[in-house]
Amino acid sequence: MLPHQQIESALQAAVRAVLPDADAAAVLVRPCDPKFGDYQSNALMALAKARKLNPRQLATDVLARLDLAAVCEKVEIAGAGFLNFRLSSCLLTQTLAAAARGEHLFFDQAAQPKTVVIDFSSPNVAKPMHVGHIRSTGIGDALQRTLRLLGHRVISDNHIGDWGTQFGYILVVWKDFQKNAPAALQRHLESDPIGTMGAFYKYGRVAGQINDYEDLEGSDWVQSTPEVQDQLARAELVKLQAGDPENTAIWKEMIRLSQVQFEAIYARLGVKFDFALGESFYNPWLGEVVADLLTRGIARESEGAVGVFSDGSVPPKEDVFLVNRDGEWIPDPALVRKSDGGFNYMATDLATLDYRLKTWKPDEIVYVVDDRQAGHFKKLFLTFARWQPDAAKQVKLVHVGFGKIMGDDGKPFKTRSGDTVKLGDLLAEAEERAFKIVSEKSSELPEAQRKEIARVIGLGAVKYADLLPNRQSDYIFSWDKMLALLGNTAPYLQYAYARIKSIFRKAEAQSAIRNPQSAIALAAPEELALAKHLLNFGLTLEAVAEELRPNYLCNYLFELAVHFSRFFENCPVLKADDAPTRASRLALCDLTARVLKQGLDTLGIEVVEQM
Ligand code: ARG
Repeated sequence: MLPHQQIESALQAAVRAVLPDADAAAVLVRPCDPKFGDYQSNALMALAKARKLNPRQLATDVLARLDLAAVCEKVEIAGAGFLNFRLSSCLLTQTLAAAARGEHLFFDQAAQPKTVVIDFSSPNVAKPMHVGHIRSTGIGDALQRTLRLLGHRVISDNHIGDWGTQFGYILVVWKDFQKNAPAALQRHLESDPIGTMGAFYKYGRVAGQINDYEDLEGSDWVQSTPEVQDQLARAELVKLQAGDPENTAIWKEMIRLSQVQFEAIYARLGVKFDFALGESFYNPWLGEVVADLLTRGIARESEGAVGVFSDGSVPPKEDVFLVNRDGEWIPDPALVRKSDGGFNYMATDLATLDYRLKTWKPDEIVYVVDDRQAGHFKKLFLTFARWQPDAAKQVKLVHVGFGKIMGDDGKPFKTRSGDTVKLGDLLAEAEERAFKIVSEKSSELPEAQRKEIARVIGLGAVKYADLLPNRQSDYIFSWDKMLALLGNTAPYLQYAYARIKSIFRKAEAQSAIRNPQSAIALAAPEELALAKHLLNFGLTLEAVAEELRPNYLCNYLFELAVHFSRFFENCPVLKADDAPTRASRLALCDLTARVLKQGLDTLGIEVVEQM
């Protein structure tokens, strides 16, 4: 067991002895400000508060039962009831030596592995993936990687938007083309399938705005009034919903074309899913779900539609099924069926939730979706709890929300001409910009190698810049900031890694390669600080998994690189005074490189050996 786990389990045992009814498993330790110790727990204060106990007295009682003589030099009560732990230096050295021998990398498999479904990325068919999709895709992927690394069972599911009213509009225009200009349709679909479908959808919504697809002029569709267009689109949608073979075939082709785009982007980003069960997968169950909600009195009809309304169980202010209009609380139901018989997004999500629980029996379902849908997920979770109270108690449902990407003008990030930024274009630009920088700095490297370095740095920069801020905050997209070699950026971390690798290249040239059996000796304060920070890797991963916040790992890695450069400036490695010191310092270098690489990989970011 790693030191932080030994402390945690001893602490949990002591808490159990003092408070037999407490949920001791929730008592955790976290890294701590080095002024006070190496680890800290604030759990006793909450336990005391819930029981109206004096927190410092509780801490004293727990401390009396705590046997950590072999692990800690000192355990102290601080402030209102914190416990601070100072690790024994002997255990610190032993832990590093074991890591140097390859026995662990400062983290362990979870004692109680969970099954977690992660719903992320989830783009919509017939639309281009845009810059905003980096958020759900990157955060979701970092979470799935973290949970898997810690030994949890993860089921990642891309809930693709492959059903909805947009298909009615696209179908009308598509079929109109097929009838009047089949060759042009072919040409457009071959050169730019997503753009074509997007344009078709737009024509449906914004009648008469035709510029790039002139072949459409003169077609029946274009000459109709918006009202007629709406009716035509509805009729095509109804036919699709009824399983009309022609519309179904076109719809399937739209999905296929979109999938080509999605897959190219996922391959580029290195993101994998276990499943991609789109919304349409759940169509067969939607009728049953709504009927069941009606029979159980969870939903009711209103003006022909079906919705779930407030049950009055909480004050109006906290009730997501109510909304305040001019000082008056009026219903804001979760609609599941429209008055025309079509089903809502909510109905699909209820069916999806039911399917996931029955199929995978998860302990947790995590939805990585932007914060504008926070209300939707609140309603979804509450409706599910009313619909299937027992099942709802077995699972933790979490909406992992996130904010927007802004331009430096403080408005949502757009291209210069005001269009949404396509994700593919953005990734290409990242690689181009990185290529310029790499070519300036390392002009001696062959072009193919510079291209590969630029790919790793460019993609890493974009991903990291997105993972670094607290996910709920909006952040400003800045190429200069994210590509900077100094500061809290991916290139800085990738550079720290490459720098360590170059130390080893030199060491090898001097045949001074580390002997992994050699003892670790920590003397200089910079060595100690680096060593202790290495030990916090596992705790950090656990915190990411617990709170679903990859930014903790970003900050940990940045601090690691900072500790490393302080160490490297103050403690000669290859020129160390004696062989044991050199070996010990090389071991610290190697462990730092391994943690940097593993940590970046967990964020979905690659490294290069040289840059
Ligand atoms: N396709 C949806 C959108 O782009 C996101 C789906 C999120 N997942 C879910 N289960 N609702 O808004």
